[in-house]
Amino acid sequence: MSRSPTIVRTVPALRRAVDGLRARKATVALVPTMGALHDGHVSLVRVAKRRATRVIVSIFVNPTQFAPTEDFSSYPRTWKADIARLAAENVDLVWHPDVKAMYPEGFATRISPEGPATAGLEDRFRPHFFGGVATVVGKLLTQCRPDVAIFGEKDFQQLRVVTQMARDLDLGVRVIGSKTIRERDGLAMSSRNVYLSPDERRLAPILYRTMKEAATRLRSGEDVAAAMAAGSEVIKAAGFALDYFEVRHAETLAPIAATSDGPMRILVAAKLGTTRLIDNIAV
Ligand code: PAF
Repeated sequence: MSRSPTIVRTVPALRRAVDGLRARKATVALVPTMGALHDGHVSLVRVAKRRATRVIVSIFVNPTQFAPTEDFSSYPRTWKADIARLAAENVDLVWHPDVKAMYPEGFATRISPEGPATAGLEDRFRPHFFGGVATVVGKLLTQCRPDVAIFGEKDFQQLRVVTQMARDLDLGVRVIGSKTIRERDGLAMSSRNVYLSPDERRLAPILYRTMKEAATRLRSGEDVAAAMAAGSEVIKAAGFALDYFEVRHAETLAPIAATSDGPMRILVAAKLGTTRLIDNIAV
């Protein structure tokens, strides 16, 4: 039997709700989202349920992580369907502030992450992004006070940035990365996939296929620079506008020169038409 989650829209109401959970000795998991929920988000909720006795999902399309040229106003918003999905998963509480509740008049503080946030990947193309993410996630974590917070590996640099921030600021939360959920043809699930035209949708899985081929070549001893160059060529030849196809150290995200330099992660970002896709895999 599914049960509708309690929906909370103000900070004082959230504080009361979280105090109530704590008074009942609950352990709390937070799944931060911007809504437009898909099976990838549901998998995060299921991880959360295994890690804590109560699950909070936040739904907040965060304006500070979008540049003025990006899709904040057109970002998909599917509230009713989202709540139905969360009810089916028996989520306990949905934290759904509006922009004024999250950033009240006079708001003037920003978390400015360094380390993984300056790896020259997403930050090179979206310089505003990690400041906005770190600030809102810092707020979500202090508002909800969870024991654990679950983030998708699909946004791998974001996962590393948030993990570092939670550690650096002693937020007392364990950040858990959860594996990317893919469509049958390999495309990583993302709320932005709805922007793809049918032709673009057919091409999109090339990103995953190219990363898998590069991983195979790296495992059989191919040189890092050669694997990056070959992967980049395949993606450009398929018609993508490539931002990066990089092999990085899986923990620090630092560039690596040789396959012996540490655990590797392949990360890609490319545009098909106006839709920007990002993805990554372990080697
Ligand atoms: O990954 C997302 O959906 C967002 O960046 C997050 C973590 C919810 C912060 O707005």
